[in-house]
This record gives sequence, structure tokens and C-alpha cells, in this order.
Amino acid sequence: MVKNMRCEGIPLTHNHKSNYIFIKCAVSLLLIGLAFRLLFFHPNGFPLFSSSYSFSSPSISEDDFVVSSTFMAPQSSKPNDSSVSVDFHNTQNQASQNVAAKCDIFSGEWIPNPLGPAYTNESCPEIEAHQNCMKNGRPDSGYLYWRWKPKDCELHRFDAKKFLDLMRDKSWAFIGDSISRNHVQSLLCILAQVELPVEVYHDKEYRSKRWNFPSHNFTLSVIWTPFLIHAAIFEDINGVSSSDIQLHLDKLDETWTDQCKSFDYTVFAGGKWFLKTAIYYENETIQGCHYCPGKNLTELGFEHAYRKALQLIFNFMTSPKQKGFVIFRTTTPDHFEGGEWFSGGTCNRTVPFKDGEVDLRNVDRVMRDIELEEFKKAEKVGLENGVVLKLLDTTHLSLLRPDAHPGPYRTFQPFAKDKNAKIQNDCLHWCLPGPIDYWNDLIMEMLVNG
Ligand SMILES: *[C@@H]1O[C@H](CO)[C@@H](O)[C@H](O)[C@H]1NC(C)=O
Ligand SMILES: *[C@@H]1O[C@H](CO)[C@@H](O)[C@H](O)[C@H]1NC(C)=O
Ligand SMILES: *[C@@H]1O[C@H](CO)[C@@H](O)[C@H](O)[C@H]1NC(C)=O
Ligand SMILES: *[C@@H]1O[C@H](CO)[C@@H](O)[C@H](O)[C@H]1NC(C)=O
Ligand SMILES: *[C@@H]1O[C@H](CO)[C@@H](O)[C@H](O)[C@H]1NC(C)=O
Ligand SMILES: *[C@@H]1O[C@H](CO)[C@@H](O)[C@H](O)[C@H]1NC(C)=O
Repeated sequence: MVKNMRCEGIPLTHNHKSNYIFIKCAVSLLLIGLAFRLLFFHPNGFPLFSSSYSFSSPSISEDDFVVSSTFMAPQSSKPNDSSVSVDFHNTQNQASQNVAAKCDIFSGEWIPNPLGPAYTNESCPEIEAHQNCMKNGRPDSGYLYWRWKPKDCELHRFDAKKFLDLMRDKSWAFIGDSISRNHVQSLLCILAQVELPVEVYHDKEYRSKRWNFPSHNFTLSVIWTPFLIHAAIFEDINGVSSSDIQLHLDKLDETWTDQCKSFDYTVFAGGKWFLKTAIYYENETIQGCHYCPGKNLTELGFEHAYRKALQLIFNFMTSPKQKGFVIFRTTTPDHFEGGEWFSGGTCNRTVPFKDGEVDLRNVDRVMRDIELEEFKKAEKVGLENGVVLKLLDTTHLSLLRPDAHPGPYRTFQPFAKDKNAKIQNDCLHWCLPGPIDYWNDLIMEMLVNG
């Protein structure tokens, strides 16, 4: 059972290092075994690492981040209150065509910020234990004192009051995996400085939640749907898999599509889970798989599934029946070094990378390329159908922040008993406060500051 789980977690790349990875897998499962179960999974039952993959491909070309100007952040009009939101959308829609691309807010660098973060572990009640690095005893705090500086402009700090005023009677949803939950918690922490959120719903596993900000009648949801398409996931409460994931490439996950109409704004993202072993279905018929040795199925590659899934999602989101404002976030790179998450990888850097100092890994580049291609197509369709579709291109700015993951401090005082304890590191999610807060500044910029 453990073996099954371990190997499930280690999908193959399209470049097929199968034997190597299989051996790595077998060895690592022997070494980690039960410890993995205890350390790696949230007590509530969801894998902490929504992604789990093993790639050692180092070499990347220099133009990983050449992003065409089509993806530059749009400038927006400034509605003077939320009642004009429909016009706001339309205006923005038209505006996005002739934006002279004054400033690409996604291209820039992290610069020192003596002011530090907008909130702390004391002021925010919503930080998930695994990302509460301060509380968990992370000794250094330098990672808190950087801000994102776009090359050609300033990024305004998120104005929580302005946001809540603008979003009166509105609803937002973040749809995706545990990185989306990480993101929503950051937003909650920022907004909590103006009004405390009231949790009004959570699912059994606390993976999907909804909050209300009563005095603004603003609703914020996070919906856990790691693939966004219909998937049968056979993971028990400890995240242990008893069978391969069955992924239906022609069906969306109704958990979110059913609710979608009720949201004025959606931010969706995905990706990492597609790297796992899965059997691919279409028309209820097995078409192939990704990393399923011994099954005598055609290896279709995660790229096949991810592209199909994105096409399905974008088709749905840009159909004329959809309302609202849709933001798609690009893939998030991790920063495991000296190993992977399951083999002692760590992330102990304490300062950001400078531009050009690090390359995107091959798998992230492949994923991002698919995202950009499908987004570009969908953006056109959206324009025709009056749906505002925006790209939140956080990949590059996230890549530059190896210093801001929980690392070993995903658990409380991990070295309290033993200074040399071997601790499973989290080099994928982000400490709160942390650089993920700037994702919200970017969203704010996309919405109102133009
Ligand atoms: C604010 O909105 C009102 C309508 O609600 C409009 O008449 C007015 O021109 C707007 N002001 C600005 C500065 O956009
Ligand atoms: C916040 O973090 C500090 C350490 O930086 C810790 O002493 C304190 O107990 C934490 N407070 C909460 C409420 O988590
Ligand atoms: C709150 O907002 C919803 C729309 O999201 C609206 O239907 C409802 O009437 C609002 N409630 C109040 C008290 O204004
Ligand atoms: C799916 O099945 C339907 C009828 O069962 C058929 O008409 C359709 O061509 C099939 N599509 C694919 C992609 O196999
Ligand atoms: C694998 O599948 C092919 C076609 O579906 C079949 O011809 C072949 O016999 C299978 N091989 C094994 C070892 O089952
Ligand atoms: C930091 O991580 C690297 C790579 O995993 C490791 O070789 C090094 O010993 C670590 N340094 C410290 C101070 O933990």
C-alpha cells in the first residue's frame, strides 16, 4: 500500500526516465515508509504537496520567460463604485485590445522592502498551520522584506478597503489545488485588516471553504478541485492511494462548474496534479495513461491531458453563458534542491534569485507553454463572447523566490527535540506572509489600478 502510494506520487516525465525513477521510488519508499505518511500529509487528509513529482532535468533555454506582449497586463478603467461593474467589465474588455502595454507587471525583480509585510501571524487568524512559518519557528525573517518591482512601473500595495468597497455584494472564487488555497489565505489575511472574515462553509476535509465579510456582503470561496476536470481519486484520509487516478478528459468537475454561475470573479489554476500517475478516459473508454508501467496502456503523457483539460475549462469559461471576470493563473515552480520532496530535498536559501540566475525546470516550462498557448486561443473566444479572461502570470516572479517556502517549518518547532532531525520539507507552498501576497497586489492592479 505504501509502495503504491509512493510510486503514484512520482509520475514520469515525458522524457521517460522510468527505470531510474522507478528505482528511486522503490528505494525511497523503503526509506521513508511510514514517516512519509505521518509527515507529508495533512491530518485532515489532503496531501500537503498537491504536486508530487520527480524531475531532475536541469537544462533550460534562456528564453523560458519570453512572453509575448499579448500577455501583458491590461490596463483597466476605474469604476467609481461596484454598481458599475458590468460596464467596468465591458470597458476593460474593449480596453484590453488597445492597451499600449505601458508596463508588464509580471516582468521585474524583487527589491528590498524595509516596510515588510502588510500583516503578521498575529494579525491574521486564517494562516494554515503548515504555512505559518513564523509561528512554527522559522528563525530568519529576511524573506519578509522584499517586494515585487515591475520593470517599468510601481506595483501598488493591495488596498484592502478599496477592494472590499469595490466588491460590495460580489463573490469571488479561487478554484484549483492547495496552491489556490494558499493564495486565498493570503487574500484573507490582507482583507482581515479591514474586516474579519466569517467562515460560512467548509467541506468535510476542509479543502473547500467559503467566507463572508458581512459588512461588505462580500463572499470569498475556495474550491478544491486539483484537476478541474472529472477525476476519481482513490486517496484515503492519509492521502494513501489504493488505485490509480481515473481522469476523464472530456468532462469537467461538477463541483465547481455547478457553482460557477454564482461567482462574479473566478481565479483558477491547476497543473501539478497532472504529473501524477493517471488512467485517461474519454467517452467512458480508456484512451491511455500517464506513467502506468505494467498496465499495457498507451503512454499519452501529462501534456496530452493538461492541454485537453485546459481546452475544456477555457471553453466552458469563455462561453457566452458565463458571466463575470475570469483570471487564469499560470503554473508554480517549486524549489527543492539536493533532492526531491521525498528524497531529502530542501530549500534553505535566504535571498531571492536575481533575474537570469535560475532557469525554469523543463516540466514547468512545458506546462507553462501549454497554458500560454491555450490561454491565447481562449482569450480571443472570450473577447468575442464578452467574457473577460485575464492571465495572472506568476510563474517567473515565483521562480525567483526560493527563500520563502516553509521548508522544514511546515510543522511546529520541527527541531525542538532534535537539532538534526530529518524533516520533510515543503518547497512548493509559500510562507504567509510571503511573496504569494504579491499575487494579490497583481490582481488588484489588473482590476482597478491600471
Ligand atoms: C461615477 O458614477 C456615476 C454613475 O454611477 C457617473 O455619473 C459618474 O460620471 C461617475 N464618475 C466618475 C468619476 O467616473
Ligand atoms: C507568531 O510568531 C511568533 C514568532 O515569530 C510567535 O512567538 C507567536 O506565538 C506567533 N503567534 C501566533 C498567534 O501564531
Ligand atoms: C448580498 O449580495 C448578494 C449578491 O452576491 C445579493 O443577492 C444580496 O441581496 C446581498 N444582500 C444584501 C443584504 O444586500
Ligand atoms: C463518444 O461516443 C459517442 C456515442 O457513444 C460517439 O458518437 C462519439 O463519436 C464518441 N466520441 C469519441 C471522441 O470517441
Ligand atoms: C497489450 O495490448 C495489445 C493491444 O491492446 C495486445 O495486442 C497485447 O497482447 C497486450 N500485451 C500484453 C502483454 O497484454
Ligand atoms: C542547504 O541545502 C543544500 C542543498 O540541499 C545542502 O547541501 C546544505 O547543506 C544546506 N545548508 C544548510 C545550512 O542547511
